[in-house]
Amino acid sequence: MNQLQITLPDDWHLHLRDAESLKSTVPATARCFGRAIIMPNLQLPITNTEQAEAYKQRIVTNTPPSSTFTPLMTLYLTDNTPASEIKKAHNSGFVYGAKLYPAGATTNSDSGVTDVNKISSAIEAMEALGMPLLVHGEVTQTDIDIFDREAVFIDTILKPLKQKFPKLKLILEHITTEEAVRFIENSDNTVAATITAHHLLYNRNHMLVGGIKPHYYCLPILKRNRHQQALISAAISGNPKFFLGTDSAPHTQLAKESACGCAGCYTAPTAIELYAEVFDTHNALDKLEGFASFFGPDFYGLPRNTQTLTLIRKPWTVPASLDMAGETLIPLRANEELAWQIAN
Ligand code: DOR
Ligand code: ZN
Repeated sequence: MNQLQITLPDDWHLHLRDAESLKSTVPATARCFGRAIIMPNLQLPITNTEQAEAYKQRIVTNTPPSSTFTPLMTLYLTDNTPASEIKKAHNSGFVYGAKLYPAGATTNSDSGVTDVNKISSAIEAMEALGMPLLVHGEVTQTDIDIFDREAVFIDTILKPLKQKFPKLKLILEHITTEEAVRFIENSDNTVAATITAHHLLYNRNHMLVGGIKPHYYCLPILKRNRHQQALISAAISGNPKFFLGTDSAPHTQLAKESACGCAGCYTAPTAIELYAEVFDTHNALDKLEGFASFFGPDFYGLPRNTQTLTLIRKPWTVPASLDMAGETLIPLRANEELAWQIAN
């Protein structure tokens, strides 16, 4: 197959940053996605409905005029998020979920939740309203190995949480392990997961063998090959509980190529092309549309997009670097060839 037309996909997990950066990050996503769930963990996290509205406006201002791209906003949960704020956000009509970052789990998550029991009333409100809880699933205890943090989170936090709130809609974001795949498969239909392109394409060998490659460093960290294979099987399975979320997370070249480099892979400029490559490699291009365009909106209770996107098999080379707010950014796959591109 050399050409593939699919319903316009959406990105159910995206970091856009703010201010000047939006001039490049918004068009990069709007080029191939109809909507995106916008992560709220900025340097000043988006913790209330007013902030989400203002941030949405800044994103819309930076959307190319020819694009119909719609940002779907989220709130950042803190220990102090009241149930009333959840209700207000839900009633606004532009907030579609709230994000649980265990405090310190990842970039700009220091004001996250220190103990899920502290946000019981907010979660109770979400359960009642049918508003999805979006979870960064890693424990942060220093004595837990970084490669085990997702599996330990599932056992010690997620399973008890789902028992306490059985009707809560929950999305385990950017899953990276076989344990996460099994947890999702064995849960009822209130539970789903997003999968990034980079966790489908790479494992920890790519990051560590032959020298440390900081552009593969992300959180949750790339795991063993066996976990990568479990993610690929889940993504191409046609199981509607697994859908596309890039976790595209731009950091400047300086911030990545540093003695203490930031976590995040910038995949927006190549996103749907990278997913197409994975599905193609595994003879599953017929499953791409469900994963990229149907299962996300179905889980969120939103209509599927009506526009289409056409991909063609035609090699192109990813730019060596890009600009973000006057600084240099290295996209994932910089200077390398991709097999698929979007037809004009
Ligand atoms: O690798 C990551 N980068 N994982 C996250 O969860 C956050 C993101 C970021 O914001 O840079
Ligand atoms: Zn993220």
